[in-house]
Amino acid sequence: MTEPSPFADANEPVPDTSTKSARRDFLYYAAAGAGAVATGAAVWPLINSMNPSADVTALSSVEVDLDGVEVGTRITLRWQGKPVFIDRRTQEQIALARADDGADLIDPAPDADRAERPEWLIVIGICTHLGCVPLGQQSGDPLGDWKGWFCPCHGSHYDTAGRIRKGPAPRNLDLPPYTFLTDTRLRIG
Ligand code: FES
Repeated sequence: MTEPSPFADANEPVPDTSTKSARRDFLYYAAAGAGAVATGAAVWPLINSMNPSADVTALSSVEVDLDGVEVGTRITLRWQGKPVFIDRRTQEQIALARADDGADLIDPAPDADRAERPEWLIVIGICTHLGCVPLGQQSGDPLGDWKGWFCPCHGSHYDTAGRIRKGPAPRNLDLPPYTFLTDTRLRIG
């Protein structure tokens, strides 16, 4: 049996549960290796369009300048061959996440433990079920019942803290190691 690719194109028809307020622009950021800050952004429409060179894939850390990323916008960065979702959350999204800290969670974790800076949620964009890339990074994507991300491969719903709320995924979206070098300069890895 063939294992699904982490970058499988999840394009089965799904109900569009997105709302106007939850819709975001999508940018694909070109990441630079440690010591250099990304200076350009490229808009790539599909996640499986990524085709980095081996040396980029192997980088142990990448840095990105988040200046200019608007509140309510999500960008995707590639780190060690994995998509990293960076979500500059709105106050509403933060409040939604925090309101559910005490809910009956599949993989309990308070929002504060998942976002060092509440405005910036940074997660690895790989569904913890079988490795599809959840939808929610592109404008108009379905966001799932908890307005976070939705993996249509087998129907996993993640909330605005990247916590698994419904479906077969066993745990929350993983958190990469990261450091804010300044208010807007972020190092992943
Ligand atoms: Fe995401 Fe199965 S891989 S629900």
